Amino acid sequence: AQVDKAGYKHFMAKEIAEQPAVITQTLQAYLDGDRIRLPEPGIDFASLDRLTLVACGTAHYACLTAKYWFEQLAALPVDIDVASEFRYREPPIPARTAAIFVSQSGETADTLAALRYAQGKAEMIGAVVNVAESTIARESDIVLPIHAGAEIGVASTKAFTCQLTVLLLLALKAAQDRGHLSDSDMAEKLGLVRSLPGILNQALAIEEPASDISRRLSEARDILFLGRGIMYPLALEGALKLKEISYIHAEAYASGELKHGPIALIDEHVPVIVMAPRDNLFDKTISNMQEVMARGGRILLISDQAGIEQAGSGVWSALPMPTVDPLLTPILYALPAQLLAYHTAVHKGTDVDQPRNLAKSVTVE
Ligand code: G6P
Repeated sequence: AQVDKAGYKHFMAKEIAEQPAVITQTLQAYLDGDRIRLPEPGIDFASLDRLTLVACGTAHYACLTAKYWFEQLAALPVDIDVASEFRYREPPIPARTAAIFVSQSGETADTLAALRYAQGKAEMIGAVVNVAESTIARESDIVLPIHAGAEIGVASTKAFTCQLTVLLLLALKAAQDRGHLSDSDMAEKLGLVRSLPGILNQALAIEEPASDISRRLSEARDILFLGRGIMYPLALEGALKLKEISYIHAEAYASGELKHGPIALIDEHVPVIVMAPRDNLFDKTISNMQEVMARGGRILLISDQAGIEQAGSGVWSALPMPTVDPLLTPILYALPAQLLAYHTAVHKGTDVDQPRNLAKSVTVE
């Protein structure tokens, strides 16, 4: 079917705005009352000792986020790698390991080669894909579609949040299979997950302030993203989105690593975007933020209203997010990352949907 921009200026804008609706579809496909229902043949996480998650680009950051969920919710150790490293490293794959490959297109050459390496070694091969008829899907034991609908913008947006949604449901299923989540706790977590579309809708209201801030970001030459814990992969994704479409040099660091190098870069010319929901690491992130401010750095703080107030004056700018349970923050905080990249690119006048040198799907090595 032909996909059009539905009145939006770019496919990317349309795909950002569609996220509440497509995540609703994803949830419908996987939720059955208070149960998570996987496509046949299912995955019995109780029979596994490890997971290996492999992908490229944005899908790799979805895997990195999911590692925190599988380890924290299900006590399931996760190995993770980019496909282009995994395929040549020849990593040993221990018994009772499932390997899951995440790919929007299902055709990325490096990811496919990594999958073929794992065939016959891993207990089970899973594919988290948007294109359910893709090569990666066909060569897997279980296909876990993300139901994002066609994604046209080269910079991935809705596929990322749908990948995260499927991976979060897998982690919850793993927690239940492995005896770390009672039925009533599962019901409570799924209640939270079901609130996601409404929360994302609410969060889209930051579009205007995000555009205003982006005007100032568009003048920067370098931008740093900081986050701790599960916000670290989101910081990486924020930096990737920004460089892909605005061509501004952006880097992300785990906030705790700041003192081991990147702090040398800080001056008043480098905006520092801090992703800091009020979770168990909030106070630590805020103290990292103060280290930046003490060196003249300009902070853009992304947190909820109470977090922004607690951080006090002295920040250059702030973007208020809805207050949510920490389970949902990675999916929610993808939105400001996408909107800042999008509007910065629009202010710079770059080709948002077709950025230079990039392809939607990289089917050659
Ligand atoms: C390309 C795209 C990225 C994407 C990556 C992985 O580099 O430009 O947006 O994240 O490939 O693609 P896949 O289809 O495997 O998710």
